[in-house]
Amino acid sequence: MKKKILLGLFLNLILHAETMSEVYLKNGCHGCHGLYGEGIGATPRLQGQREEVLLKKLKDLQNGKTRTAFGNVMISFAKNLDENQTLEMAKYLSTLKRTEQDEVYELDYDDNAGDGSS
Ligand code: HEC
Repeated sequence: MKKKILLGLFLNLILHAETMSEVYLKNGCHGCHGLYGEGIGATPRLQGQREEVLLKKLKDLQNGKTRTAFGNVMISFAKNLDENQTLEMAKYLSTLKRTEQDEVYELDYDDNAGDGSS
């Protein structure tokens, strides 16, 4: 009996994770951030960040605030997520573990969000 409950919980976790990564894939996030959120070229790594930081970053982007000179491309992708999807996305991305990879672009968070034009 206990085993069944545990199995159910386990399946639930897997299915839920799959659904969220589907949202990530369907929205084309992997095209720039990589299949595992590892970051590609000048697009930042999403792995290994805390949920509340990711949420703040997504909200900044939705409000048109970027932190790099080429950040404007991200604004429309952030705006395409409704409030619920934004919360879910921050939660999902915070579960991504860092994969070892050299030369990835990472942004430290500070509150000095710019407008992407500098
Ligand atoms: C066309 C390329 C592109 C696509 C597609 C894209 N992003 Fe981004 N993303 C960027 C760039 C560039 C930045 C850096 C923005 C800035 O300057 O602040 C960024 C930043 C972010 C950040 C903040 C990361 C940090 O450390 O500052 C998050 C979170 C994020 N993207 C999530 C997503 C999600 C979720 C999707 C899919 C819905 C997505 N991105 C699709 C290019 C992209």
